[in-house]
Amino acid sequence: MTASPEGSVAPAARGLAAEVSRRRTFAVISHPDAGKSTLTEALALHARKIAEAGAIHGKAGRKSTVSDWMEMEKARGISVSSTALQFNYRAAGSEIDNVINLVDTPGHSDFSEDTYRVLTAVDAAVMLIDAAKGLEPQTLKLFQVCRHRGIPVITVINKWDRPGRAPLELLDEIDERIGLTPTPLFLPVGIAGDFRGLLRRGPDGAAAEYIHFTRTAGGATIAPEESLTPEAAEAREGEPWSTAAEESELLSATGQDHDQELFLAGQTSPVIYASAMLNFGVRQLLETLVALAPAPGSRAGVDGTSRQPAEPFSAVVFKVQAGMDTAHRDRLAFMRIVSGEFERGMVVTHAQTGRPFATKYALTVFGRERATVDTAYPGDVVGLVNATALAPGHTLFVDKKVEFPPIPSFAPEHFAALRAQSAGKYKQFRKAIDQLDSEGVVQVLRNDSRGDASPVLAAVGPMQFEVVTARMQGEFGVETQLDHLAYTIARRTDAESAPELDRQRGVEVFTRSDGAILAVFSDKWRLQYIRKEMPDLTLEPLVAAAD
Ligand code: G4P
Repeated sequence: MTASPEGSVAPAARGLAAEVSRRRTFAVISHPDAGKSTLTEALALHARKIAEAGAIHGKAGRKSTVSDWMEMEKARGISVSSTALQFNYRAAGSEIDNVINLVDTPGHSDFSEDTYRVLTAVDAAVMLIDAAKGLEPQTLKLFQVCRHRGIPVITVINKWDRPGRAPLELLDEIDERIGLTPTPLFLPVGIAGDFRGLLRRGPDGAAAEYIHFTRTAGGATIAPEESLTPEAAEAREGEPWSTAAEESELLSATGQDHDQELFLAGQTSPVIYASAMLNFGVRQLLETLVALAPAPGSRAGVDGTSRQPAEPFSAVVFKVQAGMDTAHRDRLAFMRIVSGEFERGMVVTHAQTGRPFATKYALTVFGRERATVDTAYPGDVVGLVNATALAPGHTLFVDKKVEFPPIPSFAPEHFAALRAQSAGKYKQFRKAIDQLDSEGVVQVLRNDSRGDASPVLAAVGPMQFEVVTARMQGEFGVETQLDHLAYTIARRTDAESAPELDRQRGVEVFTRSDGAILAVFSDKWRLQYIRKEMPDLTLEPLVAAAD
């Protein structure tokens, strides 16, 4: 991608195939507080995108995180928006720069639907685990999404500079709880809390190299590395080294060596121990991404044929976001390029409407940083400005038609009726609801008895409602009232079953804005009872958040 004004990325002269093969597009999946923002900074620091780590971190006393933008995000220390950070990285011994696209995922489980959409845009994921805490609920949930989508996962065990668990115990947990075989590429030298360096494992589990790290003040700059032979490591570190070397052999004995095919098939996961805060292991992660993570590949269309990266331009919209910048008041649709070369200004076809779409305003966005994109390639993420017709899951293409499958929406578990506090604001209210609906911030349900002035919002997590009310007020100037409803389950039904269901106590029937008819139930016992009493009614499950 050629980004101006920075213009830091190499020119487009290399040809499409070379551009594709040097790209790696991934996301970090983790439980809040595992260190995702810190790792993002550390990666950017290694790519020299920022001068000093910590400069872009959002927590107390520091400047705003690059990926945080809304007041609410700042106040709560969460990240709602999903954008992409692109940087070049030249791997050791390589003649060319790789282009790394790190697609940001929301930090809170209430936005798991958003995260799911982001994960449709990446080719690999980094599962970030806190060394003291091990696998946490949100990590597990997101891992299931990766498995479901066949995304290969690299594991980073973070915070090794702090006391934590034993290295092999953490590996056993991954194996036992999620059935993914961990195959460490690097093992820590020194227990958690005494992180001296990494042992690089050779192909047969024998120690190949010792990478010794030196701390820098506050981890603000890249930690100097020293490479030692196993013999020199033994002489220098003594027991911590021999322990790591033994562990490495032990892992080989149980078959826990890297196997590229099994990794790509989602059965094994290369593991790196790291300290994002001290920048230990971060370069090793970048090297691993370049060496092992897949370059952008083909994507299946709804008709069963696949679009290859070398074919004419196509892209999938995975995220729509408005109000990112109050000064601009624009609406950005983020697309992941699937095939072909993108050139700003080109006219593409919007598969869902068949209409032409001019791509005059194309941007990369990360936090508050924006840059115009002139050229982009498969794997890259580009934000299109004021693309009002585009919604998550939509396809853009040139020449040969392609339509990628829609992104499934999740089964909502929280419901609330929303209305404008002042009837005079009804017009703005309608407009705002349509906007937030098309972005996929919440699902919008309507029925005749509630009328258009009080639609029901359906969400996977209640924080989605907060985003709606905050944006209603901030962007559209509409004060709203939210009344939580005592429903917890939704099922898809049809026009024949709808009237009977609507007559039942504890049940209400709605039409969602995509046309789906949903019956919502107070609880699972009500649903079970109705199923039993009226077995002929259509009641189909929606995609659950953990699927
Ligand atoms: P998140 O985006 O996944 O939510 O995590 P974030 O990077 O914000 O990190 C959560 C906390 O963990 C932060 O501490 C951060 O400094 C700390 N942390 C991240 N990586 C490491 C690491 O490798 N080692 C150690 N020791 N700590 C790490 P905080 O106290 O919440 O914030 P702050 O005061 O450091 O800003």
